Amino acid sequence: MWLWRGVWWSGGRRRSRLAGTALGVVLLAAAAHAQPAPIPSIFDPLSRPADEIYTLSLFVLGICAVIFVVVGGLLVTSIVRFRRRPDDDGREPPQVYGSNPIELAWTVVPLLIVFVLFLVTTRSIIAIERAAPPADALEVRVIGHQWWWEFRYPAQGVVTANELHVPAGRATFLTLESADVVHSFWVPQLNGKTDVIPNRVNRMWIEPRDAGLYIGQCAEYCGTQHARMLLRVVAHAPADFDAWVASQRGEAVHDPSVQAGRDLFQSVACINCHRIGGTVADGVFGPDLTHLMSRATIAAGAADNTAANLHAWIANPDALKPGALMPAMKLSDAQITQVVAYLTTLQ
Ligand code: CUA
Repeated sequence: MWLWRGVWWSGGRRRSRLAGTALGVVLLAAAAHAQPAPIPSIFDPLSRPADEIYTLSLFVLGICAVIFVVVGGLLVTSIVRFRRRPDDDGREPPQVYGSNPIELAWTVVPLLIVFVLFLVTTRSIIAIERAAPPADALEVRVIGHQWWWEFRYPAQGVVTANELHVPAGRATFLTLESADVVHSFWVPQLNGKTDVIPNRVNRMWIEPRDAGLYIGQCAEYCGTQHARMLLRVVAHAPADFDAWVASQRGEAVHDPSVQAGRDLFQSVACINCHRIGGTVADGVFGPDLTHLMSRATIAAGAADNTAANLHAWIANPDALKPGALMPAMKLSDAQITQVVAYLTTLQ
């Protein structure tokens, strides 16, 4: 299935405006947010192990193409050559039964093809799944939620949401967990899909060659907002990655000019679901907001992270993302403006 979706996406580069498949539209809409990102395609791998999957896909597609041409060719030849003609006498032509060489050929050849496909696929699966983390590998815990992604960096003491920051040219090993239902972590240019399953820990790894932004998407239907469960993977040059970690490490900035908004935030139920480092807000149900403004989008890619969108989101999350589990806090417009003023200081 991933292969065919990949085909769609790849074609979308040229056909999207005409075809407008649901996935293509979702993805293009997502890519339109914030800075433009390359449209993800499995035919444009930019990382291990996506390279290996790509090579394998080409090999499998090549064999399938040969089978298609041979079978299609025989079919067309038969239809044309043995079609009904005006001078047919209506009787059946002589029938051929039990030709041993033919029977043998069409049994053995498919068997060999399946065997070769099985071997090369198994070899790739084992090579990718059994790859041991190198000594300098980064470890990140990925937790799927309805409908956003939580990223925890245990060694660095960093927690963020929806944007996975990794170093380029170095392996990142991911531990995949779910807080609720089954999701699937998929960034086509970095690796294949891996399901994110409750009460189970899955592993996968990526190693983007170059710094850049890679777009992904939850690839397992997980409820109303499955389509708006976007992933942004930002690969940094090593020094930039260290700088990013340093910027995410500390507690939230304390800006006295937004004291009213901070007091308001801490007096309502926001703090039950969100954490802001250095304050009483220590909820874990929703995204960590300590460095909210360092992220490009809100609501897992549903909107750009701007003051206006934050305002609309807090006023009525359901309008921006129908079915979102964040409730409207029933604050007045002036109160929301205060809260947004506070939130936008959280660099
Ligand atoms: Cu999470 Cu679909």
